Amino acid sequence: MPERVSKIAIVGAGAVGATIAYASMIRGVAKQIALYDISRDKVNAEVLDLNHGLQFVPMATLEGSDDIGVCAGADVVVITAGAKQKPGQTRMELAGANVELCRTLVPKLLTVAPNALLLVVTNPVDVLTYVVQKLSGLPSKRVFGSGTVLDSSRFRFLLARHLNVAVQNVHAFIAGEHGDSELPLWSSATVGGVPLLQWTAPGHAKLTEQDRTHIFDNVRNAAYQIIRGKGATNYAIGLATAQILEAVLYDEQRVLSVSSRLDGYLGISDVCMSVPSIVNRSGVETTLEIPMNESERESLRRSADTIRNAIRTLGF
Ligand code: LAC
Repeated sequence: MPERVSKIAIVGAGAVGATIAYASMIRGVAKQIALYDISRDKVNAEVLDLNHGLQFVPMATLEGSDDIGVCAGADVVVITAGAKQKPGQTRMELAGANVELCRTLVPKLLTVAPNALLLVVTNPVDVLTYVVQKLSGLPSKRVFGSGTVLDSSRFRFLLARHLNVAVQNVHAFIAGEHGDSELPLWSSATVGGVPLLQWTAPGHAKLTEQDRTHIFDNVRNAAYQIIRGKGATNYAIGLATAQILEAVLYDEQRVLSVSSRLDGYLGISDVCMSVPSIVNRSGVETTLEIPMNESERESLRRSADTIRNAIRTLGF
């Protein structure tokens, strides 16, 4: 029995969508990669450029079109299309325009790829994950967002650099909104098994309260800083999304802080946002109730309220 060919389809051939395709090619995420965009010239140019590099990456085929039919049969459809942040603009300010885009996009995707999982990247990702799940009527585990996977990566990078420890040995999550109300889970963070708040190692920096504030500010404001400099972020979100896709397509049972529908998580319901969750072939298999102190639980509730208010304002 030949191995089933895995396929991802990426909606939107802008900087983020094209970089997700590029990162997925390099990591051998799927045998088939499809790129869809309403601009025929743009999607054809991106696909041509990517195909010219196929010789250097694991075997795969890559196609693109301005016809959404190119997404047919995908195991996962990644939604990146929509308005992007301008310098100084918040992600939430994109909600109105990008929700309208989802209203027309989701029914078409259900027609061409009825069995696909839907992975939302477009911002505000938590609001749109909730909206796409509602519009699709799919089980909530099959509709999830990139959430704070990227923020957690930024958090781990900055902690690792400050402590002079390999980032692979720093385990720390950002939870809540992928946005201004996100929160760092300091109390569960560890470095090589050592609780971060008890960290001490000869020859390695300590982590003062001031360091923690500075690091978290840099995490929360990273996108604004990058957008000011180059107009958009794309590389790290591309790699983060490729890792989420790998967790699904290789059925990895990987713990990632993806955004998904919470109902009864530490008393939080009827909202989509990021908490550490197990991701596998079924999508978001389960959320993990990470031990949190009262301050973290309160911040998580406030973040949920921020997202839920935006969802209600949009009429969902
Ligand atoms: C960022 C975008 C993906 O945080 O929201 O870079």
